[in-house]
Amino acid sequence: KGPKAARRAYRGDAAVATYLIRHTPRLSGEVEVSTAKNAVLPILAAGLLTEDPLIIKEVPRITDVETLVSILRDCGAEVNRSGADLSVCALQPQSPQNEERMRKLRASILILGPILARTGSACVGLPGGCAIGQRPIDLHLKGLQALGAQVHPLGGMRQLSGRLTGARIYLDLPSVGATENAMLAALGADGCTTIENAACEPEIADLGAFLCACGADLRGAGTPTSEIEGGKALHGATYTILPDRIETATYLCACAACGGALTLRRAAPASCAGVIEALGQCGCRIRCGYDTIAIHRQGPLTACRAVTARPYPGFPTDAMPVLLAAQLGAQGKTSFTETIFENRFLYVQELQKLGAKLSQDGRTVRLQGAEPLHAARLHAGDLRGGAALVLGAMQAEGESTIFGVKHIQRGYDNLEAALQSAGARLKTVEIPIKV
Ligand code: EPZ
Repeated sequence: KGPKAARRAYRGDAAVATYLIRHTPRLSGEVEVSTAKNAVLPILAAGLLTEDPLIIKEVPRITDVETLVSILRDCGAEVNRSGADLSVCALQPQSPQNEERMRKLRASILILGPILARTGSACVGLPGGCAIGQRPIDLHLKGLQALGAQVHPLGGMRQLSGRLTGARIYLDLPSVGATENAMLAALGADGCTTIENAACEPEIADLGAFLCACGADLRGAGTPTSEIEGGKALHGATYTILPDRIETATYLCACAACGGALTLRRAAPASCAGVIEALGQCGCRIRCGYDTIAIHRQGPLTACRAVTARPYPGFPTDAMPVLLAAQLGAQGKTSFTETIFENRFLYVQELQKLGAKLSQDGRTVRLQGAEPLHAARLHAGDLRGGAALVLGAMQAEGESTIFGVKHIQRGYDNLEAALQSAGARLKTVEIPIKV
């Protein structure tokens, strides 16, 4: 046996999760929505701001959370899971040592503001995340510079230092992450900070509510202008995060795609208004309670009006792939335009393999009408695009295979079990690979 065989034997064979999905004629039942990934991540990063312990309730078991937890541990925080809850205690935070891990996740950059605020300096690697566009961090750095930080590039890292003072921060774009980083850093700055043209996503309002629960003096989070009175020590808190509006959209769109009746529990209907309106236009009946959404689709689907993704309160870019997939069997034509990320339509060519009549022109994808869909071998390349492939495959005759499930597992806490419980013909198999 040569050295190659010996190396294989030493490293062992690995397996990757792959979905096998058969045509699912209808969904029925109830699904409980997880807490929001995009609120959990900044709130965990905010744990670096205080030496007191925090308890975050009902944290989803997704790989983006696992990765951020390992980064927080690398920063010296003690993070423990107890059932569904996570506790974070950061007595003496420091910059992370592992640059590679930072690249696994976009939200890793959210540790920058808290470490800088707490220690006066921070050195971090550049973030990664879903490959849906360039995703620079210039607005994050500009916000921190406005507070007085000096930025030094250090190879693939950024080193920031300086005593922070409250200031006016104007964001050229209402970036979600840059708003969050500015809010977190401003808490450690002396005096008042105003963030203008801030992002208004519900997850930012939730981060603000969490920070207020820790004693922060902060107003207007989740509106275009927020004000933060910095320099006050934060204390610990126990906090429950808001429901995930994109997971909600995914289950609603799954039911719209297959037909049937589904009730979502522990949802936040108000945060899903755009998706609910679009599904109502295509012939779904939707009833909202305080924290429930019931969807019912019996007859044929008709195409919804043209959809354009925009910052909140516009139609969410993260929900567009699943809405598009839900429309594949709809009568009529419609279009989907993306204005936030320049490369978000990679999943469209995978949906075409199922026979979908889609054409792309720059940042707009047109649906030319319903076509019978057939099974195919599909590759998920990002989280929400991956969810769209699942919905597409559930509508196709035959058995489809979806590779790249790891991208879906970044943000859905057991999508497979939730859909199976509602009658989806979906299972995971582990396909061995040589490493
Ligand atoms: C957050 O990403 C979400 N991620 C994304 O969810 C979501 O798609 C996005 O907001 C928009 O709603 C998390 O919250 C962890 P941005 P973020 O900064 O903060 C440009 C999902 O599937 N920009 O609002 O990275 C950027 O390139 C993920 O759950 C700059 O130019 O988004 C983009 O075009 C995917 N410079 C636009 O702004 C910067 O410094 C909006 O990005 C920062 C951003």
